[in-house]
Order: sequence, then structure tokens, then C-alpha cells
Amino acid sequence: MESFWNRLPKPFFVMAPMADVTDAAFRALVAKLGAPDVFWSEFVSADGLYHTREIGKLPDQRNPLMRDLLKSEAERPIVAQIFSKHPDMIAYATKLVNDLGFDGVDLNMGCPDRSIEKQGCGAAMIRDPKAAQAVIAAAKEASGLPVSVKTRVGYAHESLDEWLPVLLEAAPAAITLHLRTRKELSLVSANWELMKKAVAIRDRINPNVLLIGNGDVKDIADAKVKIAQSGCDGAMLGRAMFGNPWVFSGRKSEDTPLTEKLAALIELAYGFEKLSPPKNFSILKKHIKAFVAGFDGAAELRAKLMEAETAADLERILSENPL
Ligand SMILES: Cc1cc2nc3c(=O)[nH]c(=O)nc-3n(C[C@H](O)[C@H](O)[C@H](O)COP(=O)(O)O)c2cc1C
Repeated sequence: MESFWNRLPKPFFVMAPMADVTDAAFRALVAKLGAPDVFWSEFVSADGLYHTREIGKLPDQRNPLMRDLLKSEAERPIVAQIFSKHPDMIAYATKLVNDLGFDGVDLNMGCPDRSIEKQGCGAAMIRDPKAAQAVIAAAKEASGLPVSVKTRVGYAHESLDEWLPVLLEAAPAAITLHLRTRKELSLVSANWELMKKAVAIRDRINPNVLLIGNGDVKDIADAKVKIAQSGCDGAMLGRAMFGNPWVFSGRKSEDTPLTEKLAALIELAYGFEKLSPPKNFSILKKHIKAFVAGFDGAAELRAKLMEAETAADLERILSENPL
């Protein structure tokens, strides 16, 4: 089966996977207001899915991780991001997301979270090339889904010359490079100059693999410049989606009238409330801070909205505080 990766426009613009941000509620909003060329789920522990497996069936629907794999038909193509250092668990989770109707599976090899790294996953994979190649192979064998990888340019230091060939030899369909090292976290600016080097390595070792640049992309105009200057195939936007679910339609955050932004926030809150099993309403605070910003009285209104415990509360507080 031909993979959706081969049918994307060039350049293309994709949604970053973001835990507790790009859930089904936020993705539904983005699908409506300006869809990216590829949607991504939040990351999901393959080990966590595996532990509630039932032979020959989908895992226990009460496994809360199944909520992170909810999606609607409006979000296509959509890639599920999983992590594990165990090839058998990666294979299990890949089959599962295939059965759930995802269009691709992405392996996280960049997360700097200590609890993830302790399991030998996320950015720790950069230090374990054999494990990295083994999980890519396991994912590729598990189903017909195309496999991609999201990683960083190195661990303590930039090590593209060593790390990127490890991935390219395992031949995933696409590699997203967050243009920082593990050690840099997000404390320094993403180094898009390194993308030129990555493209040269890709062209030499495996030109079939798509390269996606990630880090500090502000909007689509900025993405186009960064892609043109570096020669990569696409760009992934993360924090640029905060408060701007229109970003993939080409809008800059300041292009949207405040009333429209607040209406989008209310819609998001109602969608968020419908996630099952429910998530703590406080998770929505990141979005509230981003949508309610940049105008006179924003700080006061934000403070009031932080008290909201339901979508109805949020809607009421907004209607009681006309701008
Ligand atoms: C709140 C938050 C959650 C994130 N969750 C994930 C995740 O689940 N998987 C992943 O690969 N990266 C995750 N990231 C990293 C982003 O996908 C992206 O690589 C990073 O934010 C840099 O891109 P940006 O500058 O466009 O935001 C997360 C980042 C943030 C801020």
C-alpha cells in the first residue's frame, strides 16, 4: 500500500505531538479551523498499552491511554506517536494503532522527560543506537503502517554525523528533527543551520527518507523560509498552535479578532470536557493562557478564568466580563 507520506505536497506542514495539548479536542478544533498536512497524537506509552492487552482483542477500553488514541475522521492523515525500548511492545502498539485506523506510527526518540528516559525511552534512545534500530524494525514489521521517528540533533552534543545514519539505515518513511540537543531542552533557540547538514547526510545515505524540521517555527510564512533555506521537506509546528488553531491556514496569531479567539476557546473547553475518561480541567489552563493574551485587561481576565472548573464556568466568566 502506498503511504500517505508519498502523497503530501512539498513543502508540507505538520502538527507537533504535544502531551496534554494536541488531544482529540484540540485536534478537532484545528481540523475545523485550518488542518495541517499531517495530524499527530500525543505520545502514548507502548508498554502501558501492552499491559492491558487481551489476547486477540483491543486492550481494555478502560485503559486511560486509549483516550489519547481517540480521533475523528476530520483528522487525516493522522500519525500515532508511541514510545518504548522494547521491540515486542512497539510491535503490539503498532498493530493496535493500525487496527484503530491511524495512518502512520511515529516513534518518540527525543523526549527529555526524566521519567521517560529512565525507561530507556525518548531522548535516551539517542545513546542506544541498537535499541533505536530494533524498535524501528519491529514497528515496520508489525503492520503495513508507515513508520516515522521524531528525535533531536544529539544528546549532550550535536551528533548528526553518527545519529542520523543510524536512523536512515533503518529506513523510516520520515524523520522529524527537533533542532536542539537533549541537553539544550528548549532553553536555547533551535538551530536551523543544522538542517542543511542533516539534508546532506540524508541525501548521501538514504534520499527516500523525508526530513521534517522542528523548533521555533512561528507560522507558515516562517516555515516556508526555514524550509527553503535548509532544503528539508516539511516543517512541524508546536507552540505556534497555542492560541492560534488557525495557524495552518496561514494566519498569524494577531490576525484573528479576539471575539473569534474566545469563541474557539469555549468550543475547545466543551470538546475537552467530552474526552473520556475525563481529564482534569486544569490541563486546559495552558490553552486559556494562550488564547487570553495580548490585550488590555488580559491578565485580569485570565486570573478569573483560572477559577473555572467546567466549560460552562468558562463561558459564564467570559460573558460576565465583556471586553
Ligand atoms: C507541552 C508540550 C508537550 C510536548 N509533548 C510532546 C510529545 O508528546 N511528543 C513529542 O515528540 N514531543 C513533544 N513535545 C515537543 C514538541 O513536539 C516540539 O518538538 C517542541 O515543542 C519544539 O517545537 P516548537 O518550537 O514548534 O514548539 C512537547 C512540547 C510541549 C511544549
